[in-house]
Amino acid sequence: MLEEVAKRLKEAKKAVALTGAGISKESGIPTFRGANGLWKKFKPEELATPWAFQRDPKLVWEWYLWRRSLVIDKEPNEGHFLLARLETMVPEFWVITQNIDGLHAQAGSKNIIELHGNIWRERCSSCGFKRVNRSDRMEELPPRCPECGALLRPDVVWFGEALSPDALDAAIHHSETCDVMLVIGTSAVVQPAASLPLMAKNAGVFVVEVNPERTPISDMCDVSLRMGAVEFAQALQRYL
Ligand code: APR
Repeated sequence: MLEEVAKRLKEAKKAVALTGAGISKESGIPTFRGANGLWKKFKPEELATPWAFQRDPKLVWEWYLWRRSLVIDKEPNEGHFLLARLETMVPEFWVITQNIDGLHAQAGSKNIIELHGNIWRERCSSCGFKRVNRSDRMEELPPRCPECGALLRPDVVWFGEALSPDALDAAIHHSETCDVMLVIGTSAVVQPAASLPLMAKNAGVFVVEVNPERTPISDMCDVSLRMGAVEFAQALQRYL
């Protein structure tokens, strides 16, 4: 199986990796739906929605600063580094991630589509102001836009919000025009990201899932490996 996956990657003109919280699990960042997942402790509708932010921006920011504190000292793992290495091997390679932790860029990946935004970016809820702020502290909560004084919000996609059309279009395009898609560490339940492997399969792409648990797309994949991202990266390296 792994030999076949390595062979297909080595022969691929274009490959894509769709990643979820599971690829960052072994960097020490909690997933959302697993045993100790974030959604076991918090209700997404109370914190990760525009209505929650409207109702209590200070609470939402306290939660995101806490989530930043979970990420700020974490490093990419061999799963992230494998994808950065594949980008140097495959003529065209894209990482399409649902993660907002920024670890793919930290591992050296360049072609990254962040479908759900980035926890280190902030944007104004009114004007177009954006900034990167790699800190888990704030002088004032909730922070205000330095340009127009309106509330600053985390530059992430909340439940009930649309993804950036450009990011989604690019993600669909790359998913449908690649030779191999690796789907690593996602429960494949949140749309529209969860439809990308199906679109790839319908376009004749060889789809490989890497996840210790089965997911709704496991049966549809050409190969579905019951393993973690690090184990997969270590095992695949032997054939690359
Ligand atoms: N390696 C690979 N996968 C793993 C590992 C590991 N070491 N450990 C756990 N997993 C798998 C779990 O089995 C699970 O299927 O990672 C998946 C994580 O699923 P979720 O927690 O649902 O995360 P994700 O799929 O990224 O969620 C999608 O939902 O809450 C929103 O916006 C949030 O981007 C997130 C989206």
